[in-house]
Amino acid sequence: MAFTSTPLTPRIGSEVRLDKAALLGGALASDIRELLVSRGVLVFRGLHLDDEELRTAARSLGDLRIGSAKRAADGKVLKEGEEGVLKVSLDPEVNPEYARYLFGNLLWHMDGTYEQVPPFATLFTPYCLSQEGGDTMFASTYAAYEDLPAEERERLGTLRVVHTMQAALFPAKRDCTPEEFAMWSSYPQRSHPLVWQHKSGRKSLVLSTSAAWVEGMHPAESHDLLQRLMAHATQEKYTYRHQWQLGDLAIWDNTGMMHRAMPFEAASKREFHRCTLNGEEAVTAPERAVETAA
Ligand code: OGA
Ligand code: MN
Repeated sequence: MAFTSTPLTPRIGSEVRLDKAALLGGALASDIRELLVSRGVLVFRGLHLDDEELRTAARSLGDLRIGSAKRAADGKVLKEGEEGVLKVSLDPEVNPEYARYLFGNLLWHMDGTYEQVPPFATLFTPYCLSQEGGDTMFASTYAAYEDLPAEERERLGTLRVVHTMQAALFPAKRDCTPEEFAMWSSYPQRSHPLVWQHKSGRKSLVLSTSAAWVEGMHPAESHDLLQRLMAHATQEKYTYRHQWQLGDLAIWDNTGMMHRAMPFEAASKREFHRCTLNGEEAVTAPERAVETAA
């Protein structure tokens, strides 16, 4: 393998060392993908990718998203940035349409839980850093799942969870206007299995602040279960906190990771450019163990 990598924590994250030409050449793409799925998040230092290079790296690893599942206030489908590069900024002058959603990034989430096939991965590189705060945290829902007791894994594997935009955004903006709340509520909901059996063979919890309720469960029990699982999955041993430097690239596997931005000043001009890779498989529940007669 023509690159080296070092674990950032025992359970999640690796730093990868390779030069820009080797990344953009694409010959290492399948090794990088394999490492991505096994470590959840990869960070590269000192790459300083421009938008075209970011697209090239993205296309080498998967299917670059051009459209978007999100809608503007007038109901029109939003574009995922310019030819697949989205500017992630709270500044409406940088990104007038997305700024209204991005405050939700401060809470633990997976991207695209409203889609039948959630995005596979994200490539993320900073263009402007906040003076304070603004780290990004990642939590492995692969590792969190693997550590649950066997009976609980079995039981969770039978459950489905409904994901909604208002569950994702309301806790981050309790002072929303009634119009905003109505807009979030009008957004399509999506039900997914709580446990994802990936084609890779790994299993993970499909958890996110967007997880609104467990289907068929009493609301109090559902609320307590989702809160408990979120607390479990975000314990320090399952997380990695990235402190950004200009020139970094992070790639995360959105199918087995949650992530969040840590607080920063809204006026800071913090800006990242991102490419999203389309999902490659719908969330699929684990196969039930074949019941054998005792
Ligand atoms: C995102 C996101 C986190 C951050 O772009 O989907 O959640 O640190 N970003 O900005
Ligand atoms: Mn996100």
